[in-house]
Amino acid sequence: MRFVVDGSDPPRTGMHARLRHATSAVHRRLERRVGLVGPALTIERYGAVLRAFFGYYAPLEARLAAAWSRTPISFVRRASRFEHDLVELGQSVDRLPMCVELPATATNADVAGSAYVLEGAALGGQVIGRELGARLGVRASLFGGDGQETDARFAEVLAWIDDTAAKGRCGDSIVAAACDTFATLERWLEHTLEAR
Ligand code: HEM
Repeated sequence: MRFVVDGSDPPRTGMHARLRHATSAVHRRLERRVGLVGPALTIERYGAVLRAFFGYYAPLEARLAAAWSRTPISFVRRASRFEHDLVELGQSVDRLPMCVELPATATNADVAGSAYVLEGAALGGQVIGRELGARLGVRASLFGGDGQETDARFAEVLAWIDDTAAKGRCGDSIVAAACDTFATLERWLEHTLEAR
């Protein structure tokens, strides 16, 4: 089974439409690289994905934590959920490699672009979590969906992104920041996660 975010479902508006369009190709590539859905999925692959994502999310969230206070949205550390999932597998996060080539977090536009990627991943994460439960019997908090709150939270993030773009006239910079977040993650996964 593959899930494709390709803009073929209901039209989005404003910044959401732009962000989705600009990042749909890299999203598809990441889905393929991560390889977490489909009959070939193994517990080893799942563990490798958790380790790779922890190595990206932990340093990025450490950087974002302060900048995030400029948003009206609560900060959720998804890295600790990856850690929790690894501990459930009997693995530790000690001495895991950490990504150093991270997207910028200096401006509101930078934060908005990264927020789109990390919070959007939580939407897809719900789908991935169900798949992992069905195939491997694990209870994954992977990508950190927030249960019933996930959709409402994403709507809140999108509203803040629209507002930030309008006030700062920085829509282009937000799209560039989202693309850069996806690009740094993709390069990190190329180094750390064997392709499927
Ligand atoms: C196996 C890998 C993945 C699968 C199967 C997957 C699947 C999905 C699905 C089904 C959605 C749509 C959810 C909905 O509309 O309710 C989605 C959205 C999204 N995902 Fe993924 N995803 C994967 C990996 C990732 C990764 C690694 C990231 C980035 C860290 C990511 C970022 C996003 C974003 C930003 C959206 C929001 C798209 C929008 O604007 O609506 N996804 N994903």
